[in-house]
Amino acid sequence: MIINPVTQLKGEISVPGDKSISHRAIMFGALAQGKSTIYNFLQGDDCLSTIRCFRQLGVNITVNNDIVEVEGNGLNGLKPSKEILDVGNSGTTLRLMTGILAAQPFDSTVTGDESIQKRPMGRIIKPLSQMGANINSINENGCAPLKIQGQQLNGVTYESPVSSAQVKSSILLAGLYAKGDTTVIEPAQSRNHTEIMLEYFEGSITTKELKTTVKPAKNLSSREITVPGDISSAAFIITAALIVPNSSVLIKNVGINPTRNGILEIYKKMNANIKVLNQRTVNGEPVADILAESSLLKGITIEGDIIPNIIDELPIISVAATFAKGQTIIKDAEELKVKESNRIDAMVNNLSKMKGDIIATSDGMIINGVTNLEGASVESYHDHRIAMSCAIAGLMAISPTTINGSDCIGISYPNFYDDLQKLI
Ligand code: S3P
Repeated sequence: MIINPVTQLKGEISVPGDKSISHRAIMFGALAQGKSTIYNFLQGDDCLSTIRCFRQLGVNITVNNDIVEVEGNGLNGLKPSKEILDVGNSGTTLRLMTGILAAQPFDSTVTGDESIQKRPMGRIIKPLSQMGANINSINENGCAPLKIQGQQLNGVTYESPVSSAQVKSSILLAGLYAKGDTTVIEPAQSRNHTEIMLEYFEGSITTKELKTTVKPAKNLSSREITVPGDISSAAFIITAALIVPNSSVLIKNVGINPTRNGILEIYKKMNANIKVLNQRTVNGEPVADILAESSLLKGITIEGDIIPNIIDELPIISVAATFAKGQTIIKDAEELKVKESNRIDAMVNNLSKMKGDIIATSDGMIINGVTNLEGASVESYHDHRIAMSCAIAGLMAISPTTINGSDCIGISYPNFYDDLQKLI
């Protein structure tokens, strides 16, 4: 992908459906009794991997553009897959599905692409094993491929060392099948879409501050569900509107769940012109339209409990910080190193190539605002969020930017380039 500098961005767009919510809608639809219909489903590669895996597990799923029908066979209706389950690049599919598979009366093997085979799975193997699961990392390196021998599980209380919605959700999904209640305690709140959707599908789940408890379920009810636009995708467009002069962009129908909307709070602190309009609730999830306009941003320190809330937005926040006045310090963000790429190194390498002023620290980055970036040939590191962050940076470079390996954008935002073009 080649990005040319622009002088303004104007217009109105809708970003595609939320990735986290789309995955969960397939999974809960598959475990519910009867037909669930999902509207505004994200047809990105990761969510299509979830569909492929659940089809392999015997669930009938029909895709008609962004409307998906899932014919759930009930909690105990999954069938063993004849072939290895391949999650592609999707950590959410792997971690959440493993929680479900650990409790089935059959065995499964799960794997994925080169990147997923390097990501840490010990963080789910440990708590699921405490519940009685039998999961082995085939290469004995704590990563996929995983061999899962289904077992009767028992409820546990697990104090997670990491704030991760994938870990929490994996345990809670396993908890639906356990004997007794299952509780997860997190060090800081991670996204709570599993909790909201489980309640919507009539499971029994309670959250008190950082402690979430699920009761074993006998049945989940099928549902119609409308997926809000993904704030993590909107983040690219919002940032573009903030940093490009003379810009005003309205993004319709964006999920603003408080466990996901930290970027709005961070940008407000950075002095951004952002308005949250027309707030409403759809299937338990808060939704709004977001108006973002050119802003004179200022550098701030970003640290502590907000980090899990903005974990996917930190790469694009580093781009905003590059165009802010003064210094931005990002701390407590070691988790960035175990995403689809090492997102600290990826952004530092790419923005440095573009003549940004950014250094890596052990748990984040330090970024000094600059007046100009130069176009360069940068790498996606096969990571969708890195590719799109660099594309937005490229809009404000003084010469064209080439993003190598930009196909990965299809993971979460297949129409990213076209949407951007509409605003130019
Ligand atoms: C996700 C949780 C986050 C996030 C990922 C999606 C989810 O990962 O980075 O893109 O859908 O639960 P962690 O739970 O590993 O932080």
